[in-house]
Amino acid sequence: MVVTHAHDVAKLKLNKADNVARPKRVLMVDPEHFRVDYAINPYMTNAAGELNKIDLGLAKKQWATLKATYERLGFEVLVVTGDHKLPDMVFAANQSFPFLLFDKSGAPKKTVVLSRMRSEFRRPEVPYFKSFYKDLGYDVAELNAPSKDIYFEGNGDAIPHYPYNLVWGGYGERTSPEVYHELSERFGLNVAMLKLIDRNFYHLDTCFSILNENTVVIQKEAFDSDGLELIRAVFTNVIEAELEDNLNYFVCNCHSPDGRHVITHKGAQKFVETLKKHKFDVIEVDTGEYIKSGGSVFCMKMMVY
Ligand code: ARG
Repeated sequence: MVVTHAHDVAKLKLNKADNVARPKRVLMVDPEHFRVDYAINPYMTNAAGELNKIDLGLAKKQWATLKATYERLGFEVLVVTGDHKLPDMVFAANQSFPFLLFDKSGAPKKTVVLSRMRSEFRRPEVPYFKSFYKDLGYDVAELNAPSKDIYFEGNGDAIPHYPYNLVWGGYGERTSPEVYHELSERFGLNVAMLKLIDRNFYHLDTCFSILNENTVVIQKEAFDSDGLELIRAVFTNVIEAELEDNLNYFVCNCHSPDGRHVITHKGAQKFVETLKKHKFDVIEVDTGEYIKSGGSVFCMKMMVY
């Protein structure tokens, strides 16, 4: 089932009975080849329109701290080696969408749908993830959608709502809406679709982060009124980020791997206070070099089974 309006939420028959477990492992891509070589989002250039320069030494430290943060929280981090020709591959959220598919007897099967990246620069990243998932014993699926103009950027736009049988699907900039109909028809996934209307928020994970089953942080300017109503029909606790906080600190790209801790780029004081009021344990990390490419915590990892 795919829904786009709040009045259709009941049709989703949301439940927790499917035992939709959170993944317990984290996939990250080694940052050795991280650079900004081209601009495919508004953050990759400076005010003069030149490509941002990355301090690779600093970027590696920031990446290592993020990895250590997941490990400290009890998550195993699996590292995929990058490729010198692929400077954006470090953003591991975009090349795939893993989930558990339940058969008739209720047994889960690890399944992944590979992305079809919109930018030609990023398309060659996907085969590396294909082999990674094969090695982990996943059923690996490619999109059937026939047109070459149909794109999908994985977990950057498709965000599972644990522990419900629901995936939030952003579209408009990097992902095509048709993809969610395929995911629903082929795998029986429930998808709540959200149109992204502002180029600054080009992936759903730049304007929407689910913190726990009831709580989401959003950038309201990123959505149309149907989208906002849909979000409010499902989440009882909607935290609205300040536009400046999101543009400067990427706060909507924070990540809660367990519904309690929230890992976020450092320095957004008001946002941190708000999260603390909502009883989250906030962990601030520096992702400054990655923000120069348009990504932060959520983009730099993939949760895998
Ligand atoms: N430079 C990368 C791109 O534009 C950043 C990707 C950030 N990832 C994300 N999930 N938002 O594709």
